[in-house]
Amino acid sequence: MTAIRVAHAGVGGWGRNVARVAGELADLAWICDVDATRLAEYAKRYPEARTTGSFADALADEGVEAVTIATPVPTHHALAKQALEAGKHVFVEKPPAMHAEEMEELLALAQERGLVLMPGHLLLYHPGLRRVKELVDAGELGEVACVYGNRQNLGVIRSNENALWSLGVHDLSVILWLIGEDPIEVTAHGRDFLNKGVEDVVFCYLRFPSGKIAHMHLSWLDPHKMRKMTVVGNEKMVVFDDMEFERKVTVYEKGPWKQSAGYGEWQTRTGDIHIPKIDTSEPLRLECQAFLSLIAGEGDRGKVAEDGAMVVRALDRLTESLRA
Ligand SMILES: NC(=O)c1ccc[n+]([C@@H]2O[C@H](COP(=O)([O-])OP(=O)(O)OC[C@H]3O[C@@H](n4cnc5c(N)ncnc54)[C@H](O)[C@@H]3O)[C@@H](O)[C@H]2O)c1
Repeated sequence: MTAIRVAHAGVGGWGRNVARVAGELADLAWICDVDATRLAEYAKRYPEARTTGSFADALADEGVEAVTIATPVPTHHALAKQALEAGKHVFVEKPPAMHAEEMEELLALAQERGLVLMPGHLLLYHPGLRRVKELVDAGELGEVACVYGNRQNLGVIRSNENALWSLGVHDLSVILWLIGEDPIEVTAHGRDFLNKGVEDVVFCYLRFPSGKIAHMHLSWLDPHKMRKMTVVGNEKMVVFDDMEFERKVTVYEKGPWKQSAGYGEWQTRTGDIHIPKIDTSEPLRLECQAFLSLIAGEGDRGKVAEDGAMVVRALDRLTESLRA
């Protein structure tokens, strides 16, 4: 089978990882960046790829079937739109758009043209979180009551994006994917302690139609380095901890318990603690493989795009709440 020809845009801090994996799994035909110095560096590193400062050059190549975009967030919508209009499948880093209407436009365009639109929600391809999702979907935890994410550290202090946009998109994508519902209520509170107008500490609350609730603590002004997601069910509880090496996922057989329905006090039950073995494959590689599989007609491309739209809708509302 011939490899899919891909054009990649944006070889900054993260984009260079996406370019590397795209080069390993596909035919990296073009590299695009508006920074001439970075482009020159990449021309040496990938002599077979063509380099350009103009995305339109790469899109004009009819042999290019797909693009991967890892440019700054405010450019995502325009570049993804341009690529879809040129008939290319699109992988675009999170979030693909800054507003719900812009995301709807991309969704409609992809659907109309029969193209893949895949948002880069890396954590949805993390083997540890995929195990958590399997446990939730199989009903292993019983009825899920709440999900909460902790993404805290001291630094990296950003000045162009607040903690909700920089850190929160990751946890939000996981929460919405696990619960599978659009929230009916969202609130976000935060403060800009360091850079005016850029919230360093953000707390978010989400409530869903099924009654489930979720919370996110997002901060780069914190003593703990935490990358954690907790899912509380009425039969079991599970913790995903990305700071752990060997125990990424811990399943606690703990829960509330009543002697007979309707009577008696609530009691608690504690049982075994189980640590499943988690595959150590690189999430980015799994994510890029999923993109190529979608192009090959495997998987549900509509669902992948819609999952991204759910994130943008919630982000839009959380941002509104934060500003209010
Ligand atoms: N999935 C993850 O874990 C993860 C982690 C970090 C960043 N990201 C995402 O990756 C994206 C890029 O982040 P980064 O840290 O690499 O940013 P960066 O600022 O380091 O790099 C962005 C690059 O894009 C280039 N660029 C800007 N406008 C362009 C355009 N119109 N056409 C072509 N190139 C253009 C810049 O010159 C720069 O080289 C962001 O959307 C970010 O949210 C994802």
